[in-house]
Amino acid sequence: MVLGRSIPVNLATQQPVGQGDFLMARQHRNPGDLHKPVMLDPVVEALSKAPAGVVVDATVGLGGHADALLTQRADIRLVGLDRDDAALELADLRLARWAGRYELCHSDYRALHDLAERRGWAPLAGILVDMGVSSLQLDDPDRGFSFRQDGPLDMRMDRREKRTAAELVNRLDAGELKAIIKDYGEEPHAARIARAVVSAREAGPITSTAELAGLVEATIPQRGPRRIHPATRTFQALRIAVNRELDGIQDFVVAAAQQLAPGGRLAVIAFHSLEDRAVKRAYRSLASDCECPPELPQCVCDKQAEVKLLSSKPLRADEAEVAANPRARSAKLRVLEKI
Ligand SMILES: C[S@@+](CC[C@H](N)C(=O)[O-])C[C@H]1O[C@@H](n2cnc3c(N)ncnc32)[C@H](O)[C@@H]1O
Repeated sequence: MVLGRSIPVNLATQQPVGQGDFLMARQHRNPGDLHKPVMLDPVVEALSKAPAGVVVDATVGLGGHADALLTQRADIRLVGLDRDDAALELADLRLARWAGRYELCHSDYRALHDLAERRGWAPLAGILVDMGVSSLQLDDPDRGFSFRQDGPLDMRMDRREKRTAAELVNRLDAGELKAIIKDYGEEPHAARIARAVVSAREAGPITSTAELAGLVEATIPQRGPRRIHPATRTFQALRIAVNRELDGIQDFVVAAAQQLAPGGRLAVIAFHSLEDRAVKRAYRSLASDCECPPELPQCVCDKQAEVKLLSSKPLRADEAEVAANPRARSAKLRVLEKI
């Protein structure tokens, strides 16, 4: 099977692409300037032992990992998925020299199981998932992910979706907002922030990132020197909620492992503790030989391990990488191999 190079995805979907993306794309002929791939060497090492065939980069972003994989492995073809049309456009620029060896697809990775079957990619030699947000998204004020620059309160990775951060901020009640900010942002002042949001929007909807960041900053008590901007956790929480980033991770990992060829490898980088917990649970269940309740004296199930885990603990970025790219600090890489 020869995979063709795709047409730019925004044209295929007829979605308007924001002016910010065009400016970024034009200014950065090298999309590698926009986002440093996290744990690049361990990812390439993990997938270097996968069999030949189709490797899916399920969060291709700006194509950093994809480019390295195509460089290292002449015997793979790469399918890149992303739910962000602007990221795919830049990935296409970056990967153009590999024309004929890659294909890009505007999709949520949680649809991989269906796509791999329908498009005939399965069984897969490898799958990479590098979860979360890219620097392209964070740095473009038009996308509304960042409290550092003013922009519309948007935060959608997939701009075909209807629900923006502004909608959550202006529609949810204080209890719902508190739960999001507490659970996804691990923000100790979640209740106070939620109440302040509900009270502020009585004067009119909150529509910009600067407005929300200012409100959070004015609400949180400041004691001593601050390590992060006071709005960091609230913005992270809203981003996770808008994009439903934690939904269905465990099911996705199990379904993804089932698409692998024997010896095929799945590498997942998680940044949030709830993400990593879901990945860990799925890995453990796939690697387990028994699913009997613990109170049974002996195993009565026929379950067999489908995968082997390449390490019991997640791999972490080394000090040099964390110093060069602070985003790598919270990255946890887990790798499994299909039996
Ligand atoms: C950390 S970046 C990936 C960077 C990429 N590995 C690189 O080297 O350039 C994460 C990307 O995953 C995408 N993403 C997040 N959740 C997704 C999902 N459920 N399905 C598809 N793409 C997703 C984001 O839009 C973003 O472009």
